[in-house]
Amino acid sequence: MAKVDQLREDYQRGALERADLIKDPILQFDAWISAAIKDKLPEPNAMTLATVDADGRPNARIVLLKGFDESGFVFYTNYESAKAKDLTANPYASLVFNWLGHERQVRIRGGVVKISKEETARYFHSRPKGSQIGAWASPQSQEIPDRWPLETKLESLSAEYEKVDQIPVPPHWGGYRIAAEEIEFWQGRSSRLHDRFRFRKTDGVWTIDRLAP
Ligand SMILES: Cc1cc2nc3c(=O)[nH]c(=O)nc-3n(C[C@H](O)[C@H](O)[C@H](O)COP(=O)(O)O)c2cc1C
Repeated sequence: MAKVDQLREDYQRGALERADLIKDPILQFDAWISAAIKDKLPEPNAMTLATVDADGRPNARIVLLKGFDESGFVFYTNYESAKAKDLTANPYASLVFNWLGHERQVRIRGGVVKISKEETARYFHSRPKGSQIGAWASPQSQEIPDRWPLETKLESLSAEYEKVDQIPVPPHWGGYRIAAEEIEFWQGRSSRLHDRFRFRKTDGVWTIDRLAP
Protein backbone atom coordinates (compact mmCIF):
# COMPACT_ATOMS: atom_id res chain seq x y z
CA MET A 1 0.00 0.00 0.00
CA ALA A 2 1.19 3.53 -0.74
CA LYS A 3 2.73 5.16 2.32
CA VAL A 4 0.50 8.16 2.78
CA ASP A 5 0.95 8.77 6.49
CA GLN A 6 4.24 10.62 6.10
CA LEU A 7 3.25 12.76 3.11
CA ARG A 8 3.41 16.35 4.27
CA GLU A 9 3.57 19.82 2.72
CA ASP A 10 4.15 23.06 4.55
CA TYR A 11 2.09 25.72 2.79
CA GLN A 12 4.04 28.93 2.32
CA ARG A 13 2.89 30.43 -0.96
CA GLY A 14 0.66 33.13 0.40
CA ALA A 15 -1.46 34.66 3.13
CA LEU A 16 -5.00 36.01 3.29
CA GLU A 17 -5.55 38.97 5.57
CA ARG A 18 -8.90 40.61 6.28
CA ALA A 19 -7.54 43.76 4.66
CA ASP A 20 -6.80 41.81 1.43
CA LEU A 21 -10.36 40.52 1.07
CA ILE A 22 -12.61 42.00 -1.57
CA LYS A 23 -15.85 42.74 0.30
CA ASP A 24 -17.96 41.08 -2.39
CA PRO A 25 -17.18 37.32 -2.26
CA ILE A 26 -18.14 36.83 -5.92
CA LEU A 27 -15.40 39.30 -6.88
CA GLN A 28 -13.02 37.62 -4.42
CA PHE A 29 -13.84 34.29 -6.11
CA ASP A 30 -13.28 35.93 -9.50
CA ALA A 31 -9.84 37.12 -8.36
CA TRP A 32 -8.83 33.62 -7.23
CA ILE A 33 -10.15 31.69 -10.23
CA SER A 34 -8.65 34.31 -12.58
CA ALA A 35 -5.26 33.74 -10.88
CA ALA A 36 -5.68 29.96 -11.31
CA ILE A 37 -6.50 30.42 -15.03
CA LYS A 38 -3.63 32.89 -15.55
CA ASP A 39 -1.12 30.52 -13.90
CA LYS A 40 -2.46 27.59 -15.96
CA LEU A 41 -3.35 25.40 -12.98
CA PRO A 42 -4.90 22.14 -14.27
CA GLU A 43 -8.68 22.31 -14.87
CA PRO A 44 -9.10 25.56 -12.89
CA ASN A 45 -12.91 25.42 -13.26
CA ALA A 46 -13.20 21.83 -11.96
CA MET A 47 -15.12 21.69 -8.70
CA THR A 48 -16.37 18.96 -6.41
CA LEU A 49 -20.15 18.98 -6.21
CA ALA A 50 -21.64 17.36 -3.12
CA THR A 51 -25.32 16.47 -3.02
CA VAL A 52 -27.46 14.57 -0.53
CA ASP A 53 -29.80 11.77 -1.60
CA ALA A 54 -33.37 11.12 -0.44
CA ASP A 55 -32.02 8.97 2.43
CA GLY A 56 -29.80 11.80 3.68
CA ARG A 57 -26.60 10.19 2.37
CA PRO A 58 -24.04 12.48 0.71
CA ASN A 59 -22.48 11.88 -2.68
CA ALA A 60 -19.72 13.91 -4.34
CA ARG A 61 -18.23 14.13 -7.82
CA ILE A 62 -16.35 16.63 -9.98
CA VAL A 63 -18.16 18.86 -12.50
CA LEU A 64 -17.04 21.94 -14.44
CA LEU A 65 -18.08 25.48 -13.53
CA LYS A 66 -19.50 27.11 -16.68
CA GLY A 67 -20.59 30.48 -15.36
CA PHE A 68 -20.86 32.54 -12.19
CA ASP A 69 -22.16 35.89 -11.02
CA GLU A 70 -24.13 37.38 -8.13
CA SER A 71 -27.03 35.01 -8.90
CA GLY A 72 -24.94 31.85 -8.52
CA PHE A 73 -22.59 29.19 -9.88
CA VAL A 74 -23.65 27.20 -12.97
CA PHE A 75 -22.77 23.68 -14.15
CA TYR A 76 -24.29 21.40 -16.80
CA THR A 77 -25.27 17.78 -16.54
CA ASN A 78 -27.84 15.09 -17.29
CA TYR A 79 -31.19 15.83 -15.61
CA GLU A 80 -31.74 12.05 -15.15
CA SER A 81 -28.35 11.39 -13.51
CA ALA A 82 -27.83 10.33 -9.90
CA LYS A 83 -26.89 13.90 -8.93
CA ALA A 84 -30.08 15.21 -10.55
CA LYS A 85 -32.17 12.75 -8.54
CA ASP A 86 -30.37 13.91 -5.37
CA LEU A 87 -31.09 17.54 -6.27
CA THR A 88 -34.79 16.79 -6.81
CA ALA A 89 -34.96 15.21 -3.34
CA ASN A 90 -32.71 17.83 -1.71
CA PRO A 91 -32.24 21.05 -3.69
CA TYR A 92 -29.08 22.10 -1.81
CA ALA A 93 -25.45 21.54 -2.71
CA SER A 94 -21.91 22.22 -1.68
CA LEU A 95 -19.08 23.04 -4.09
CA VAL A 96 -15.35 22.77 -3.43
CA PHE A 97 -12.64 24.30 -5.59
CA ASN A 98 -9.17 22.98 -4.96
CA TRP A 99 -6.37 25.10 -6.44
CA LEU A 100 -3.48 23.21 -4.87
CA GLY A 101 -0.91 25.00 -7.02
CA HIS A 102 -1.89 28.14 -5.10
CA GLU A 103 -2.52 26.28 -1.81
CA ARG A 104 -6.11 27.53 -1.92
CA GLN A 105 -9.57 26.08 -1.40
CA VAL A 106 -12.99 27.68 -1.83
CA ARG A 107 -16.16 26.12 -0.40
CA ILE A 108 -19.62 27.24 -1.47
CA ARG A 109 -23.06 26.22 -0.13
CA GLY A 110 -26.52 27.13 -1.28
CA GLY A 111 -29.87 26.23 -2.77
CA VAL A 112 -29.99 24.82 -6.29
CA VAL A 113 -32.37 25.51 -9.18
CA LYS A 114 -32.50 24.41 -12.82
CA ILE A 115 -31.55 27.25 -15.16
CA SER A 116 -33.90 28.29 -17.98
CA LYS A 117 -34.13 26.27 -21.20
CA GLU A 118 -32.94 29.37 -23.08
CA GLU A 119 -29.77 29.68 -20.98
CA THR A 120 -29.08 25.95 -21.43
CA ALA A 121 -29.63 26.22 -25.21
CA ARG A 122 -27.20 29.16 -25.50
CA TYR A 123 -24.45 27.17 -23.78
CA PHE A 124 -25.31 23.85 -25.51
CA HIS A 125 -24.93 25.36 -28.96
CA SER A 126 -21.60 26.94 -28.01
CA ARG A 127 -20.13 23.45 -27.38
CA PRO A 128 -18.24 21.43 -30.01
CA LYS A 129 -20.58 19.24 -32.11
CA GLY A 130 -19.06 16.06 -30.63
CA SER A 131 -19.97 17.13 -27.10
CA GLN A 132 -23.49 18.06 -28.21
CA ILE A 133 -23.98 14.58 -29.71
CA GLY A 134 -22.39 12.99 -26.63
CA ALA A 135 -25.09 14.57 -24.46
CA TRP A 136 -27.67 12.67 -26.55
CA ALA A 137 -25.71 9.40 -26.50
CA SER A 138 -25.10 8.77 -22.79
CA PRO A 139 -27.74 7.73 -20.25
CA GLN A 140 -25.56 9.17 -17.47
CA SER A 141 -25.43 7.18 -14.18
CA GLN A 142 -27.38 4.21 -15.60
CA GLU A 143 -25.83 0.72 -15.60
CA ILE A 144 -24.67 -0.32 -19.07
CA PRO A 145 -23.41 -3.78 -20.15
CA ASP A 146 -20.43 -2.56 -22.15
CA ARG A 147 -18.88 0.46 -23.89
CA TRP A 148 -19.87 -0.54 -27.42
CA PRO A 149 -23.57 0.45 -27.19
CA LEU A 150 -22.45 4.03 -26.44
CA GLU A 151 -20.07 4.06 -29.41
CA THR A 152 -22.70 2.57 -31.72
CA LYS A 153 -25.20 5.18 -30.56
CA LEU A 154 -22.65 7.98 -31.05
CA GLU A 155 -21.96 6.77 -34.59
CA SER A 156 -25.61 6.55 -35.57
CA LEU A 157 -26.36 9.98 -34.02
CA SER A 158 -23.32 11.49 -35.77
CA ALA A 159 -24.66 10.20 -39.12
CA GLU A 160 -28.18 11.43 -38.31
CA TYR A 161 -26.96 14.92 -37.35
CA GLU A 162 -24.21 15.23 -39.99
CA LYS A 163 -26.20 17.62 -42.18
CA VAL A 164 -28.17 19.24 -39.39
CA ASP A 165 -27.11 22.84 -38.68
CA GLN A 166 -28.38 22.98 -35.15
CA ILE A 167 -28.53 19.87 -32.99
CA PRO A 168 -31.54 20.09 -30.67
CA VAL A 169 -30.88 20.31 -26.92
CA PRO A 170 -31.67 16.93 -25.32
CA PRO A 171 -34.66 17.30 -22.98
CA HIS A 172 -32.70 15.40 -20.32
CA TRP A 173 -29.72 17.78 -20.35
CA GLY A 174 -29.20 21.23 -18.87
CA GLY A 175 -27.77 23.49 -16.23
CA TYR A 176 -28.18 24.03 -12.53
CA ARG A 177 -27.43 27.20 -10.59
CA ILE A 178 -26.26 27.17 -6.98
CA ALA A 179 -27.24 30.43 -5.29
CA ALA A 180 -24.41 30.91 -2.81
CA GLU A 181 -25.44 31.60 0.78
CA GLU A 182 -22.03 30.82 2.21
CA ILE A 183 -18.55 31.07 0.63
CA GLU A 184 -15.33 30.22 2.44
CA PHE A 185 -11.84 31.15 1.26
CA TRP A 186 -8.94 29.09 2.59
CA GLN A 187 -5.29 29.93 2.10
CA GLY A 188 -2.67 27.42 3.30
CA ARG A 189 -0.14 28.76 5.79
CA SER A 190 2.86 27.38 7.61
CA SER A 191 2.51 24.96 10.57
CA ARG A 192 -1.15 24.32 9.73
CA LEU A 193 -2.14 27.84 10.83
CA HIS A 194 -4.08 28.43 7.63
CA ASP A 195 -6.20 31.51 6.93
CA ARG A 196 -9.96 31.00 6.59
CA PHE A 197 -12.63 33.61 5.93
CA ARG A 198 -16.30 32.73 5.66
CA PHE A 199 -18.82 35.03 3.94
CA ARG A 200 -22.48 34.50 4.88
CA LYS A 201 -25.43 36.18 3.21
CA THR A 202 -28.34 37.35 5.35
CA ASP A 203 -31.12 39.48 3.87
CA GLY A 204 -28.94 40.14 0.85
CA VAL A 205 -25.98 41.40 2.92
CA TRP A 206 -22.67 39.55 3.22
CA THR A 207 -20.96 39.33 6.60
CA ILE A 208 -17.39 38.09 6.99
CA ASP A 209 -15.92 35.95 9.81
CA ARG A 210 -12.44 34.59 10.30
CA LEU A 211 -12.48 30.89 11.24
CA ALA A 212 -9.85 28.88 13.06
CA PRO A 213 -8.03 26.48 10.76
C1 LIG B 1 -12.53 16.93 -14.52
C2 LIG B 1 -13.94 16.39 -14.58
C3 LIG B 1 -14.95 17.19 -15.09
C4 LIG B 1 -16.27 16.72 -15.14
N1 LIG B 1 -17.24 17.57 -15.57
C5 LIG B 1 -18.53 17.15 -15.56
C6 LIG B 1 -19.60 18.06 -15.86
O1 LIG B 1 -19.39 19.27 -16.12
N2 LIG B 1 -20.86 17.58 -15.87
C7 LIG B 1 -21.15 16.27 -15.57
O2 LIG B 1 -22.32 15.89 -15.61
N3 LIG B 1 -20.17 15.39 -15.23
C8 LIG B 1 -18.88 15.80 -15.20
N4 LIG B 1 -17.87 14.93 -14.85
C9 LIG B 1 -18.24 13.53 -14.52
C10 LIG B 1 -18.79 13.49 -13.08
O3 LIG B 1 -17.72 13.53 -12.14
C11 LIG B 1 -19.64 12.22 -12.80
O4 LIG B 1 -18.91 11.06 -13.12
C12 LIG B 1 -20.94 12.21 -13.63
O5 LIG B 1 -21.52 13.49 -13.69
C13 LIG B 1 -21.95 11.23 -13.01
O6 LIG B 1 -22.23 11.60 -11.68
P1 LIG B 1 -23.53 11.10 -10.89
O7 LIG B 1 -23.70 9.64 -11.26
O8 LIG B 1 -23.23 11.31 -9.45
O9 LIG B 1 -24.71 11.92 -11.37
C14 LIG B 1 -16.56 15.39 -14.74
C15 LIG B 1 -15.52 14.58 -14.23
C16 LIG B 1 -14.24 15.08 -14.16
C17 LIG B 1 -13.17 14.21 -13.55
